[in-house]
Amino acid sequence: MVSRWAYSDFEIDGKVIKRGDSVNLMLGSANRDQEQFVNPDELNFQREESKHCGFGSGIHFCLGATLARAEATIALNTLINRLPNLNLKEDAIEWADNIVFHGPKHLHLTFSSPRDVKGLWGHDHV
Ligand code: HEM
Repeated sequence: MVSRWAYSDFEIDGKVIKRGDSVNLMLGSANRDQEQFVNPDELNFQREESKHCGFGSGIHFCLGATLARAEATIALNTLINRLPNLNLKEDAIEWADNIVFHGPKHLHLTFSSPRDVKGLWGHDHV
């Protein structure tokens, strides 16, 4: 979620917003808009759509987006490579009570014996 204060009066979807009103934009919700994305609730690393707003947009677009993407790529590749048969242990996820940073309270997982794989740079890394 990101917050803004309206610079001028405007109307959106029948709702009148006045200058100075606080507006909370639910980026996580927008990223699951079924009019924008095919199967929006599905975790799909091969998605071709790139119009998500997870890093915001406009002049305040996330300065760390490139770093965050690199970190996520390394972290997810390492996780998936090192922990074979990674699965969710719980039937239902308990969500943390935080609308700004949405995420699970905890995530219990199962996996087979960790692989002793070499890291991206040819040595082990955690
Ligand atoms: C997955 C990780 C990340 C996500 C989802 C994320 C998301 C966002 C979003 C949505 C905004 C826009 C906020 C707004 O419009 O009010 C933002 C801004 C920003 N992010 Fe990130 N971010 C991430 C990682 C990072 C990292 C790693 C850095 C720095 C190393 C960073 C630095 C910043 C900065 C400095 C801004 C403010 C830009 C501005 O206001 O001009 N972010 N981020």
